[in-house]
This record gives sequence, C-alpha cells and structure tokens, in this order.
Amino acid sequence: MSSQQNSFVLKGNICYSVDSQTVFCGESCYAVCADGISAGVFHELPEQFSNLPVYDFGDSVVIPGLTDLHTHAPQFGNRGMAMDLQLLDWLNTYTFPEETKFADLEYARHAYAMFVRELKQGATTRACIFATIHVPATVLLMDELERSGLCTYVGKVNMDRNSPEGLVESTDNSIADTIAWLEQIEGRYSRTKPMLTPRFVPSCTDELLQELGHIAAQYQLPVQSHLSENQSEITWVKELCPWAETYGHAYEKWGLFGNTPTIMAHCVWCPDAEIELMKKGGVMIAHSPASNQNLSSGIAPAKKYLNDGLKIGLATDLSAGESASILKAMSDAIAVSKLRWRYVDEQTPPLTMEEAFYMGTVGGGSFFGKVGSFESGYQFDAVVIDDHDLVHPQELNVHQRLERIIHLSGQCHVVKKYVHGREIFP
Ligand code: GUN
Ligand code: FE
Repeated sequence: MSSQQNSFVLKGNICYSVDSQTVFCGESCYAVCADGISAGVFHELPEQFSNLPVYDFGDSVVIPGLTDLHTHAPQFGNRGMAMDLQLLDWLNTYTFPEETKFADLEYARHAYAMFVRELKQGATTRACIFATIHVPATVLLMDELERSGLCTYVGKVNMDRNSPEGLVESTDNSIADTIAWLEQIEGRYSRTKPMLTPRFVPSCTDELLQELGHIAAQYQLPVQSHLSENQSEITWVKELCPWAETYGHAYEKWGLFGNTPTIMAHCVWCPDAEIELMKKGGVMIAHSPASNQNLSSGIAPAKKYLNDGLKIGLATDLSAGESASILKAMSDAIAVSKLRWRYVDEQTPPLTMEEAFYMGTVGGGSFFGKVGSFESGYQFDAVVIDDHDLVHPQELNVHQRLERIIHLSGQCHVVKKYVHGREIFP
C-alpha cells in the first residue's frame, strides 16, 4: 500500500531530460509520485492512479529538483562582492577572513539560517556543501539543513597548512575533529550526510590527506574538493607535490580520487593524464561557470567532458559564484561555452539548452542516486515554477518557456517544491 502522504499527482506543464540531447516537454500532463518515487509522466492519468489526490498547478511549469554539486555555505554573506582578485589572493583577502568568523556559533547561526532559507526557496533540492573547519558550526549547519527538508552532503573542511590563524588546524587536530564530528552526527539525520572535505591540496599536507583517505575507506564516506581551477594554484601544487604527475594524482595517491564517490570542483585546466584519472575513478566534475568568470580562472571545457562521457553536473560555488541558482548556472554554462568555442577551442561547439538542463538535473542528481528526472523509478524531486511575469505577445510552447525560465530565472518564482515526495516549500 502506498502511503497517501507521499503518493499524489502533479498536473501542469512537465519537463524533464530523457537524455543529454532531449528534454521531454509535455503540456498539461500528470506526474505521478508513488511513495516518494516517480511512476512516470502521462498525458492522461492512468486508471491505476485515479485514487490519488491531484494537485493542479494550471499553466505553471514543473521541472525536476536541481542539484548544486558544489557550494560554500559560510561564503553566503560575500556573494555578489569582492570579485576583483584571482583565486589565491581572493581566498586570502576576502574568503578566509569571512570563514574565520564561524568559530563564533552565534555568527554561524545567523549566517547559516540565511543560507539555508535561500536554498530552500530556490529550485535546488540536492546539494554538496562545504562548511568550515569548525565542528560546532558545521553541526549547526547540518541541523538547519535537516530541518529544511533538502537532501544534502555537508563537509567539515580540513586545512592544516598555508592558511591564516583562526582557519588552520594541526594535522592531529584536523583528524581528531573530523572523527569527533562523524561520531557526533552518527544516526542524527535522515537526509543530511557527511562528506570528507579536504579544502584543496595547497591547504592540506600529504600526511593529512593520507589520514583522510583512511577515514574515507573506513567510514565509506564520499569526498569533495577542488581541482585544477587556476593556473597559479596548479603551479603551487606542482611545487608542493613534486612527486605527483598531475594535481589529481596528489589526491589519488591517498585514496581520495574515486575510491569512494568523489566530486572535484572546477577542472578548468586538467591535462589529459588527469582526465584519464578522473575517468578511471568515476570522479564527478562540478562545473561552476559563474565562479570561472568571477575569479578569472578560465572556462572549464564542460562540453568536452560531456562528449567524453565524464560525469559532470553544475555548481554555484558561492561566493566565487554570485548566485545560489542552478537555473542561472545553466544559463551561464551555455554562455561561457560560446566564448570558449570562439576564443579557445573552435573544434568544440557550445553547450545546448538541453545539455545544460541535463547537467543541472540528471547529471548532478546522479550523485544522489536516481535523482533529477520524472522517469519511472526516480526519487520524486519536483519544482513548480510560475513564469507568468515573463510576458510575451506571441504563442510559446513549453520547450520555449523552459528555455526562458533558464535564461530569465530571476523573473520566475518557485511556488512549490517536493523532495523525495515530500513537500518542503512553501
Ligand atoms: N579553492 C580552495 N578553496 C576555494 C574556495 O573557497 N572557492 C573556490 N572557488 N576555490 C577554492
Ligand atoms: Fe569552491
């Protein structure tokens, strides 16, 4: 028997990716949720579901929940400012000082409540989130996320070198705090999970990475970090780890590159050997086009990664990215891929709207299992979008409206949101 609460039907204009090249856009269709799982999308409601409640959203557009594969909760307060520097100077000047404040639980409570509210109100249903090195504030963030109904992975960040006072740990403390954090949250949540989070190679000694590799294996934890984002960063990693063939090998050596599910943010400048290592480990790429632009990092070859069969999804990377919206990340991804085509690689055409939508739904969602689609068997994450402010004198079909929702998302409103069949917003 289906539990009534998690079994229902949404009626509206329903869109989802069938594959990376095809978006199904059905006018006035029925999306069926049975026990939190999608039972498919239909033009006519099948008899077997006729006993379920139907929530009719009229002319609104219903899309799968979006996945943000990489963002920094403590940087929320810095969004939309401090973007005049490149990565390493930007970290030292703006980002590390802000993160240092999360030693203060009252500041963390205030700031994290704002971050979670923003995430809850938007179209994102799943996210992989960096906290800071501070355990109490990280647990507070996880408590808040659990209450929100979103499904997330959260990482206490590890940093034991090249970091300012207040944001650096001894190697021993970094490990001890990580284990204390894992023990403190064990059994505490149903939708909020821990993820090991070495910040990036410049802020983690080999000894720390080695221990984190052991913890990943022992606790079977996923891993998230940054990779080949900026050229000065890559040069620095070569100096710090002269033994490593590529930046990626400096994680791989310690079992942090696909031994457990792994996300690497950015991947702007990956050499072929590093791309091969990502393929071998099934490492998922978090593409953040806004961050690539704001920090003048370069433009990640997202289309090439997609064509080559690498795992890839979209990310906001607050506050290097200025917006918490994955719809905006889709729009940005398309735009920067056109600049890359013109200026960097004429052999690789730009991303299509279908590909960007796929990355923001099924692509990133796959990190969470069967997530990001309304095809039968997927966890039912749905976002109902009201686009009536995007007025138009001509007739538009649902596919055209979806394209405008992506590129003009700031003028659209989320009116309802479900995660795994559970209504979480408003
Ligand atoms: N590399 C290491 N830390 C960070 C961060 O906070 N943001 C970005 N964009 N890159 C990083
Ligand atoms: Fe980041």
